[in-house]
Amino acid sequence: MAAPMVSLLVRHARVVDADTDGVMDVLVRDGIITAVGRDLPAPEGGAILEAGGLTCLPAFCDLHAHFRDPGQTEKEDLASGCAAAARGGYTAVNLMANTTPVISTKTQVEDVLARARAIGLADVHQCASITRDMDGRTTNHLESLGPDVRIVSDDGHDVMDARVMLQAMTAAARLGLTVMCHCEDQNLGPLDSRLAEDLMTERNIRLARTAGCRLHIAHVSTEGAMRAVIEAKQQGARVTCEVTPHHLSLTEETPYRVNPPLRTRRDAEALVQAVAAGWVDAIATDHAPHTAAAKAAGAPGMVGLETAFGVCYTALVAPGHIALPGLTELMSRNPARILGLNKGCVAPGYDGDLVLVDLTRPWTVDARTFASKSRNTPFDGRQLTGRVVTTIRAGVVTYQDKEEQS
Ligand code: DOR
Repeated sequence: MAAPMVSLLVRHARVVDADTDGVMDVLVRDGIITAVGRDLPAPEGGAILEAGGLTCLPAFCDLHAHFRDPGQTEKEDLASGCAAAARGGYTAVNLMANTTPVISTKTQVEDVLARARAIGLADVHQCASITRDMDGRTTNHLESLGPDVRIVSDDGHDVMDARVMLQAMTAAARLGLTVMCHCEDQNLGPLDSRLAEDLMTERNIRLARTAGCRLHIAHVSTEGAMRAVIEAKQQGARVTCEVTPHHLSLTEETPYRVNPPLRTRRDAEALVQAVAAGWVDAIATDHAPHTAAAKAAGAPGMVGLETAFGVCYTALVAPGHIALPGLTELMSRNPARILGLNKGCVAPGYDGDLVLVDLTRPWTVDARTFASKSRNTPFDGRQLTGRVVTTIRAGVVTYQDKEEQS
């Protein structure tokens, strides 16, 4: 006997994606969007979600998150990380490889993916490291990563030796892997962290063009690095980039340790301008959970999944830098494309991954309510506009905001 069809009809939402904006219904059957339009008939035996007054977007996709699993699960694990993703409106995440041990093999990747599938809250992609165990030297492991790995990254470090990076990028080009770069010259960094980012962005772009591989630049934070990406794009290079909610909305005036550091007002404005001009492909959180003790001892980073939409709506859409369809390109459509997922649009044929948001009521971030195990965020206590109310993955609700329901 065939399995029963699971269906969900979302009714009367303002549906917005990169190409759509209007009050409509969305029908999801067996995990896939089958219809978007006015007054769709309710499917027999299916669930109905009345979403009048709410806005329905394609669920978000995060290209850059640290779930610390295995090895530092007191900070986060796959279950808490996926719950934080769902609470932030995300149904897909790309996990970094700087776990303990570092993820450098097919077996390790398969272990994470199998455990994530059993949790069932998000589509998880696990990066493998560019150099084995992030040793900065060894790249022959790239040959045997298997088909689940689409992106490799030594995030948190970068690869200092240009010869090693060129070898890795050449292998990546042959294997069809995207190289995701944390651009930072580790030797120069303590002296001049801006120059350290600018130089390595330029170097990594140059090496990737020589190797012919796809390159994704993580968390661009300086005006100079952004200019390097823009110039490469203008010349037709196969380069994409992401910026974080915190580098767009905070400056060095906020005393918070993160790598790359919070920059000058001029840098933040340059990033916002680049977003507005369409040069930025994705907004990624760099969700970096730390215990209170590790943070107090100087660990860099902040959790970001549960505040990203509110921070971006407040910093980019509310002041008119971009419109809501543009934000869904950055948080849903483009990152899904970079990951090779059938997500990111509210249109027939795409995965039934949706997020309902309330754009009317301001809310205050309270880190104590996070689904993440960690609370390290400079946004605690901030008032934001744009709140995630319901997250839907493959037609199934993975998060429901209790306040909004009552
Ligand atoms: O702030 C950061 N935290 N930047 C990184 O590159 C790594 C990350 C982490 O793993 O904590």
